[in-house]
Amino acid sequence: MLTEQEIKNGRVLIVDDKQDNTLLLENILLKAGYQSVLSTNDPREVLDLFVSFQPDLILLDIEMPHLSGFEVIEQIKSIFDSDYLPILILTAYHDRETRLHALRSGARDFISKPFDNEEILCRIRNLIEVTLAHHRIQNNNTLLDLEIETKTRELHETRLEIIRRLGMAAEFKDRETANHIIRMSKISKLLGVAHGMSEEEGELILNASPMHDVGKIGIPDQILMKPDKLDPVEWKTMQNHSELGFRLLDGHTSEIMNAAKEIALTHHEKWDGSGYPRRINGENIPLMGRVCAIADVFDALTSPRPYKQPWSMQEATDEIERLSGQHFDPELVETFMGVKEDVYNICRRHV
Ligand code: C2E
Ligand code: SIN
Ligand code: SIN
Ligand code: SIN
Ligand code: FE
Ligand code: FE
Repeated sequence: MLTEQEIKNGRVLIVDDKQDNTLLLENILLKAGYQSVLSTNDPREVLDLFVSFQPDLILLDIEMPHLSGFEVIEQIKSIFDSDYLPILILTAYHDRETRLHALRSGARDFISKPFDNEEILCRIRNLIEVTLAHHRIQNNNTLLDLEIETKTRELHETRLEIIRRLGMAAEFKDRETANHIIRMSKISKLLGVAHGMSEEEGELILNASPMHDVGKIGIPDQILMKPDKLDPVEWKTMQNHSELGFRLLDGHTSEIMNAAKEIALTHHEKWDGSGYPRRINGENIPLMGRVCAIADVFDALTSPRPYKQPWSMQEATDEIERLSGQHFDPELVETFMGVKEDVYNICRRHV
């Protein structure tokens, strides 16, 4: 644990209005081998010394002019945010009330004057040891917290990176670029926050929505890349990408994965109940799914696909508006119309 040398290096501040007393204590401490001892006869200096000297122990007199020892303790408490006050009270009073007051005020221990040299040295040594051990535990905790924080951040960043790459894998197969993922997720966050989501929920949708089409990994290339309209059987197969994505993302407990699987499952549901795979309607569709539906369709419309030419942003906006209440949540469409210039800017920045 702590060595004798470490304890003797502990800083001691002596506070007593009588110079005889401070000199006596200084001598006792220096003789016993303590290296850092400081004293003052003016209690009004204690606060400054507490900050500059950072004592590991204060030997504090109670009866002093200007400020009593109790008042000094209150001053220290007002700036020192700790339940551990390294204070040993020196008191001439023998009555129970004063001793109790001393201990209740937060001081660690007290000793009655005139004191026994051996006894006071023992008490000083023990208290310094406790203070230093206390510091050490706090430092360890701080280090531990830092380490946990670093690891957590690494894990978080790794997860985000995997998520982005997973989303890109599906989109590469679809001959789309990473830019679709970026645009679609940024539009989703913009729309969600404009609709009243918190910044935190906005970040969640930004990080989770890149995986909305991850189920396309399981769809045959000849369907995914067909340059024409899909026949009914192909279309049924294609629709499986929602469930496939959900199953791929299921079984994780992280917030992002939960949001991602909800989005994968619900991004093709429609407000009027004519979507897939569950044909749920209105607010039965999770808000994130409703938000991503608009962002996904807007971006699909303005992008080239094997089966279609890109539309202009104006045409895509008209289509979103036309499908309000049918495909899309009408309130979200209104929100979309309010922020459409920001949507266009996202698309211009990520071509
Ligand atoms: P995607 O290409 O990423 O399109 C996403 C969504 O954008 C579509 O979901 C649809 O809601 C919307 N969208 C795309 N093009 C149009 C359009 O011309 N008009 C309108 N009103 N909406 C459009 P949806 O329909 O559930 O399709 C899911 C995926 O199925 C599409 O993802 C695409 O990969 C594939 N797909 C859909 N239709 C065809 C098609 O005719 N041919 C081929 N080869 N693939 C198709
Ligand atoms: C399409 O087949 O891509 C259009 C489907 C729709 O109108 O939502
Ligand atoms: C919600 O679904 O959580 C309420 C917001 C909305 O209906 O758009
Ligand atoms: C959500 O799960 O994202 C909101 C729930 C709802 O819109 O009904
Ligand atoms: Fe999809
Ligand atoms: Fe998509």
